[in-house]
Amino acid sequence: MQALCLQPSSESSVTVYRGCMTVGAVRERRRLVEVLRREDALSDPAWISAFRRVPRHVFLPRFFVPDNSGWAAVAEGDDGWLQQVYADRVLVTQLDDDPSGWARARRGGPIPGTPTCSSSMPAIMAIMLEELRVTDGDRVLEVGSGTGYNAALLCRRLGASHVSTVDIDAHLVHTARRALARCGYAPSCEVYDGAQGFPPNAPYDRVLCTCAVSCIPPAWLEQTRPGGLVVTTLNRPIGAGLVRIVAQRGPLGTGRVLARDGRFMPLRAHRLADPERLVAALPDRRDAAAGKTTLPIGAVVSPSSRFEFFAGLQLPDVSPVHDPADRDATFLVHADGSWARHRAREGDYLVEQGGPRRLWDIVEAAYATWRSLGEPSRDRFGVTVTPDGQEIWLDTPGSPHRWPLVASDWQR
Ligand SMILES: C[S@@+](CC[C@H](N)C(=O)[O-])C[C@H]1O[C@@H](n2cnc3c(N)ncnc32)[C@H](O)[C@@H]1O
Repeated sequence: MQALCLQPSSESSVTVYRGCMTVGAVRERRRLVEVLRREDALSDPAWISAFRRVPRHVFLPRFFVPDNSGWAAVAEGDDGWLQQVYADRVLVTQLDDDPSGWARARRGGPIPGTPTCSSSMPAIMAIMLEELRVTDGDRVLEVGSGTGYNAALLCRRLGASHVSTVDIDAHLVHTARRALARCGYAPSCEVYDGAQGFPPNAPYDRVLCTCAVSCIPPAWLEQTRPGGLVVTTLNRPIGAGLVRIVAQRGPLGTGRVLARDGRFMPLRAHRLADPERLVAALPDRRDAAAGKTTLPIGAVVSPSSRFEFFAGLQLPDVSPVHDPADRDATFLVHADGSWARHRAREGDYLVEQGGPRRLWDIVEAAYATWRSLGEPSRDRFGVTVTPDGQEIWLDTPGSPHRWPLVASDWQR
């Protein structure tokens, strides 16, 4: 790979940064931009230019890739490293909040763990940045600095002095700052609990959260000027969604669920119980109620299913997880001990369920309601946030069809 270290910044066939750049990286970046445009994730010329110019590889000198037995460590210079960096793929950079995991995996081979930081899938990043609807001069707060790549795109678009980015993890902030500096950007990049916003630089025109929330932190609306926008994803294992909320004065706002979807790892305080552990802890299932259903599991849990968002409204904090003992079976589980197991067998769908609530009965009732409402797609729903509560509604805020935006354990 040919390395170039060039000083001045100018638009040319070779993207130029003060840090080291590679011709290969420029080519890969252009290819990625074409992929994002084809996928309809990217169309705004200003963001196209930012994706062409900001070097994702500077933010990803090391990451994990899934391996049969866990997560394998990849480093800059490994075969295929650059191609992986510029694929439209999420790249995990931290497991279990542990900064030492990567070195352990590099030394000893793949390790188990739950991702706690990643450079998100570029298509999702592009969608969220476009949905943020920034204009020149806007001041943006990003919650979840992670690697710093998304902050760099914001710096490229708006100027670093207009960008604040916070992460709850001091190690991540340190490495993000270093990578941003290598690209010539010095935004306000601080260790802070983003659930509190970041008061020192408020008010903002835009708040963008690159982790998912179970409900909207009121501080974000309080710190956004009236008429400004908050863009975030909902932390729902089933029926997650991307929302854009217009801030009013104080901790108030109203917005819409967007047609384009986005899924992120949760804000640290909004994490849910590990569904695999919940399944492992289920009591003897021999007394479970059993029956048949006409619904394939994909209709309920697949992000491409039109019903999935509505199903999630009725099943907050319920997680789908594959049955480790049967690849044709999927569990739905909740931390209260409720569970359902859906299994495809010889053209039939069999369901068992147990625990305090019958989750599959809830699914069937939700499906009937959704049909009776005309099978609404996700973008017919909206969100209202007030100091008295937060809710999702169908079509209009005063609709008779409303659901609390709730209620993970952290809020109870
Ligand atoms: C998907 S990553 C963000 C990706 C990042 N924007 C990038 O471009 O690399 C989610 C990040 O949210 C951070 N996070 C989780 N809870 C947080 C909180 N309460 N406040 C700030 N950051 C938080 C995590 O540490 C993690 O780095």
